[in-house]
Amino acid sequence: MRLFIAIPLTNELKQQISLIQEQFRRQRVKGNYTPQENLHITLAFIGEYHDPDAVMAALKRLSFKPFSLTMEKTGSFGSVWWIGFRESGDLEKLAGKVRHALEEAGIPYDKKKFKAHVTILRKPVYPDDRRISPIQFEPAVMPVKEFSLMLSTRERKGMVYTQLGTIKAEK
Ligand code: 2AM
Repeated sequence: MRLFIAIPLTNELKQQISLIQEQFRRQRVKGNYTPQENLHITLAFIGEYHDPDAVMAALKRLSFKPFSLTMEKTGSFGSVWWIGFRESGDLEKLAGKVRHALEEAGIPYDKKKFKAHVTILRKPVYPDDRRISPIQFEPAVMPVKEFSLMLSTRERKGMVYTQLGTIKAEK
């Protein structure tokens, strides 16, 4: 099973991001746009692992306080366009706790440094091979009250992400 741990986005934020994707589309940028239902922030990528129950048991040992995220900028790295958040430290702290919990339980994960982002477009193809300029938008705020263990499956219509379990923030 291909597993990862992620913060699902609120419907409001997903709609905001759709509008940003729309701006790319309007500039005739083609590519692999992340469908609205797949938008998320990855906290840790586990990859192939046989025991989701063990992952949930490890995650249940951690606690975190709710916090909020402010969407701030778009950027591109390699062949990916992403949306980033205003630096507050909360997200990094949560990713650190999640990764520490996995480590303690001996569950392998990708150790690449955490970089908070939402991937909105992969493999962009620009009109006339010319890059477009970054998109402008109003900062939107999203409360973070939970995160989930996700299962990723490749289906005919593309990648499908399913929540296997959720950890809620302290009250
Ligand atoms: P990305 O959005 O930056 O591509 C499911 O594959 C999620 O896990 C994606 O959001 C992906 O990030 C993230 N991820 C992190 N590390 C990964 C890795 N080594 N391989 C595949 N996906 C990874």
